[in-house]
Amino acid sequence: MSGQKNSRSIPFFNYPALYNQNEQELSELVLNVLRRGAYIMQRDLEEFETSLATYLGVRHAIGVADGTMAIHFGLRAAGVGPGDEVLVPSHTFVATAAAVAHTGAKPVLVDCGTDHLIDPASASRFITSRTKAILPVQLNGRTADMTAIGKLADAHGLQIVEDSCQALGSKFDGRFAGTFGVAGSFSFYPSKTLGCFGDGGAVVTDDDAAAAMMRELRDHGRGADGLIHRFGFNARLDNLQAAVLNYRLKHYGAVIERRRAIARLYQNRLQGLGELLLPPGPDANAAHFDIYQNYEIEADRRDALRDHLTNSGVGTILQWGGKCIHQFPDLGLGADLPYTERMTQRFLMLPLNLAVSDDDVNYVCDRIVEFYRG
Ligand SMILES: Cc1ncc(COP(=O)(O)O)c(C=O)c1O
Repeated sequence: MSGQKNSRSIPFFNYPALYNQNEQELSELVLNVLRRGAYIMQRDLEEFETSLATYLGVRHAIGVADGTMAIHFGLRAAGVGPGDEVLVPSHTFVATAAAVAHTGAKPVLVDCGTDHLIDPASASRFITSRTKAILPVQLNGRTADMTAIGKLADAHGLQIVEDSCQALGSKFDGRFAGTFGVAGSFSFYPSKTLGCFGDGGAVVTDDDAAAAMMRELRDHGRGADGLIHRFGFNARLDNLQAAVLNYRLKHYGAVIERRRAIARLYQNRLQGLGELLLPPGPDANAAHFDIYQNYEIEADRRDALRDHLTNSGVGTILQWGGKCIHQFPDLGLGADLPYTERMTQRFLMLPLNLAVSDDDVNYVCDRIVEFYRG
């Protein structure tokens, strides 16, 4: 075994360690914003919006309070409203469905496939005369098969709005997650691949009218002329967060490289274990460029494996606390989703972030091999 069994601690996430990696630069830029007293809708926000739009090759990037508002605004721009249905995978954060519900439309939950992303065949089975849009969730840093989603949308006249909150920089067929539909949404929650120091998000679009509407929605309905054109929200991205994101976006390429390297290491070390289903590897399919927001496996005897890892000092997480949206009875969105149902008994996320070393990954893999092979 390449690692040693000892009293190591590999937390699932380590916020202080990530801050410490760039402490001086980050502290200085925060102080710089404070000294300028530049808090709301200031130049750091404008710079970040321009940089993000350039990075993604889109006409508009609009900083908003969080990913949930980004999805909500994208749906509003797509014309989703009361009486409509929107197809959403159940394997997602409740925020995806909430963003739909807050438009007055109904989220209709569909199944996922072995890569844990929306299954287009399942989605097609839930289409009705009320279906207005499909909301693929580009989960764990992977972009869904957008050719299949596009065909489904074309065949049924559906709008596409992407929940790409976990997928900044991920691509399908060379095209960035978030750029396939009317609008794409991003979250900068601190544990995201591009994270800020609190809540933050952005919605992106190529549609000028949609962009104008979403800019109004995030700022109390206020237009560029200073007049109120609709009831909006207080949902701006703070300038301080934008300054942090500006800095981090400049170094984002290296972040993605490292995350893919960690995923490759997990893949190489664990691929021989028949008890596990691993996420598709970084080099598995040329159509997919995954950025590994998470490394979510499926495991036989998942709970016992998790206990073993915990006892070995390795932090793991069950995404969404271990339940997908159709499994929250109070939401009244129960559905028969066989793959998702089985998956929730088996899914487990291993540590993958920039504070994790190769040695850490080897240690985690050694403990997993030891669990199944003794
Ligand atoms: C898939 C998904 N959708 C939506 C969200 C909501 O983003 P936020 O927490 O920034 O509102 C998140 C992140 O938490 C997410 O992971």
